[in-house]
Amino acid sequence: MKNKTIYRCRECGFSSPKWLGRCPECGAWNTMDEELLATSKNLSSIFSSSSSRSRRTLTDFSSRVSLIKDISEGDFKRTATGISEFDRILGGGVVDGSVVLLGGPPGIGKSTLMLQAASELFSKSKNNVLYISGEESAAQIKNRAQRILDKDALSDGIYVLCETNLENIIENIKNTAPKYVVIDSIQTIYREDLSGAPGTVSQVRECAAEILKVAKAGSLSIFILGHVTKEGDLAGPRVLEHIVDTVLYFEAEKQQIYRILRAAKNRFGPTSEIGVFEMTSSGLKEVKNPSSLFLSEHVLTEGKGDIPGSVTTATVEGTRPILVEIQALTSRASGFGAPRRQTNGFDYNRAALLIAVLESRCGLHLETQDIYLNVAGGLRIKETAIDLAAALALAGSFMGFCVPYHTIVIGEVGLAGEVRAVGNLDERLKEAEAMGFREAIIPRNNTLRGFKYKNKIQIKPVSTLKETIEFFKKK
Ligand code: TYD
Ligand code: MG
Repeated sequence: MKNKTIYRCRECGFSSPKWLGRCPECGAWNTMDEELLATSKNLSSIFSSSSSRSRRTLTDFSSRVSLIKDISEGDFKRTATGISEFDRILGGGVVDGSVVLLGGPPGIGKSTLMLQAASELFSKSKNNVLYISGEESAAQIKNRAQRILDKDALSDGIYVLCETNLENIIENIKNTAPKYVVIDSIQTIYREDLSGAPGTVSQVRECAAEILKVAKAGSLSIFILGHVTKEGDLAGPRVLEHIVDTVLYFEAEKQQIYRILRAAKNRFGPTSEIGVFEMTSSGLKEVKNPSSLFLSEHVLTEGKGDIPGSVTTATVEGTRPILVEIQALTSRASGFGAPRRQTNGFDYNRAALLIAVLESRCGLHLETQDIYLNVAGGLRIKETAIDLAAALALAGSFMGFCVPYHTIVIGEVGLAGEVRAVGNLDERLKEAEAMGFREAIIPRNNTLRGFKYKNKIQIKPVSTLKETIEFFKKK
């Protein structure tokens, strides 16, 4: 039989029978790779002895129709790793038989986290862990493990395999019979029977699909590590996202010492939670109180001189309130072209909206200004409850007034310049109180319906952005 070739886009996975300079799907140039369509043999059949199994895919489906009330949940077991920030985003621990994709840019700490998790998983469950690396030598892994793990964590139960051929990997998984497997990283693994270098869309997708079958067939929990491109996509294939159970991404810049782990998808838990880690000389350490991390020096050291354009607010990530500082800087534009608008950690369109509200509802002439808006510390926030703080930071920088360091500002801003109610206000205020804040600006609408907060923080309800600006201008 003649082998068929197709051309597949490295970025989005689009395939075409002929070569194209530009991918019609995602618009990327020069990303079409030639790919041989082989009759694929089923590698995971090595793993399960019965050949009829090879026809079964992904999950162990049954073709029986049942009433939902009659279905038993089975043994849906989780093992907590004890790394609380990691368990939190997994939804309480690693679920048996699940496949977790851990993505992030190179050097962010994926291998480090998995090595620590491997050690914890073994010590909690006494089940073997197999760490498969296609990137580092066994000696390198040992060296790192010695540096970051306790001595007794290195005794038993953690196996290392340096291999990139999927067939050999599956053989070895069968022989070692581990309960947990780490594959570092999917971009280095290849199937011999497929053309294309490791890391191409077809290799990554086919290998991951095979790994998934192994996990479901043997009820193993498998962690697949993957590198992401600069744009934040998993290199090449987003295709992996929908075949795995859980997708976790490391956020934040490499230069920063702390790392934020976020769940993009989770079949066994919430996706709104974040895990915060700090990279230290002995591996990743959990940060149990992120508020202290994201607040700037000047707030934590009792404001040695307040700064215009710096306002603290409280955001809620999942179930956890986190205090962050919003910083704004306005400076006169050069006069050539449109003024600059730059945001970091803050939604760009939301910032444009707030600038428009400040211009037309509060009379600020920001059209001549270059504007920079940052969430200090590198957290990315999508929530609208931080609007009022951002608008106030912008106004403060432009007009030269300060919001005192012990004041927290919470509220959403509407198009009419009104301050709208926010959810989870109690949690936000409690966190602010714990961090020593003494005054809170909150939406008046929040105080109308059964608002009971009576505590150390002095509450100042506001109805409009304009009124809030006036209040601080007079101070
Ligand atoms: P690594 O886990 O190798 O990243 P990834 O697998 O995501 O590519 O971690 C890489 C960085 O972390 C590396 O630049 C060095 C740093 N690091 C520490 O600062 N302390 C440590 O204990 C370890 C293991 C790594
Ligand atoms: Mg690595």
